Amino acid sequence: APAATGRAGAKAILIGEHAVVYGRPALAIPVRALEARAEARAISGPSRLRSALYTGQAARAPERLRVTVTAMAAALEAAGSPDTALEIAIESSIPAERGLGSSAAVSAAVIEAALAACGARVDDERMHELIQTAERAAHGSPSGLDARTVRARAAVWFEAGRIEPVSVGSDLTFVIADSGVRGRTREAVAAVAARRAADPAAVDASLDELGALATAVRGQVSAGESDGIGAAMTRAHTLLNGLGVGDPALDRLFAAAVSAGALGAKLTGGGRGGCVLALVRDTDAAAELSDHLTRVGAAAVWTTTVEGGA
Ligand code: MEV
Repeated sequence: APAATGRAGAKAILIGEHAVVYGRPALAIPVRALEARAEARAISGPSRLRSALYTGQAARAPERLRVTVTAMAAALEAAGSPDTALEIAIESSIPAERGLGSSAAVSAAVIEAALAACGARVDDERMHELIQTAERAAHGSPSGLDARTVRARAAVWFEAGRIEPVSVGSDLTFVIADSGVRGRTREAVAAVAARRAADPAAVDASLDELGALATAVRGQVSAGESDGIGAAMTRAHTLLNGLGVGDPALDRLFAAAVSAGALGAKLTGGGRGGCVLALVRDTDAAAELSDHLTRVGAAAVWTTTVEGGA
């Protein structure tokens, strides 16, 4: 039988990371240039994985692949075939631990492929729960933002655990620059929790402001007000630093982007490493900023455009 396949894309959080863990809204965009793909086929056991990181028995996979193994097991369970053995091949261009949703995207691709290999189908809500099961193995108690967003094809608003499409007034072009430093979402989420326990009033004020910025940005995205979006991003960067999820390498890229004329910039995702997201005027500005950020030390850069009129 031909292999069953699954795929999911990368995401970047435009505004609202961390605050979303405390019930505030967030806005995220797809990054179409980066995606995870999986192929699954039934074999006569035991289950195997094939990827750039590891090839061998699933049961012996290293800790780093715990999410993938959890995703596969959850899918087999959901398909009602917990004893089926699969070989799953994974290919992903999404850099891991950079705040771009790699773990959720790989999980989504693996689950989709594994379900298809068993001839099983699940509805959207069940699919979300399965990705969340794998995400919990990676991050502890994820808000669900990544799990929802990696299967979305347009900008989305996330609130109370659900997403809805966002109207986009005019094209928005972003440069994503990788600091080369691994993001540490679990640690960053724990750091915010510790700070909030120590100083609830100050932290809640920052979370409220991030939530208000998300609401404002949603309106600005619909109205095509890119200057306002940029200013909100830059403010969010300062607030996230104040929550203790920044990193010197991120600050360098942030400062370089803003001084080179980006409309705004911020760290994106869990922080403590990972990527900076910068909003620019158009694709020419994106090419210039990408060169500039590469010269000042970005490990990789990508451009992504969110199309207006959607
Ligand atoms: C991670 O991509 C986003 C965070 O808000 C964590 C979460 O939503 O679970 C930092």
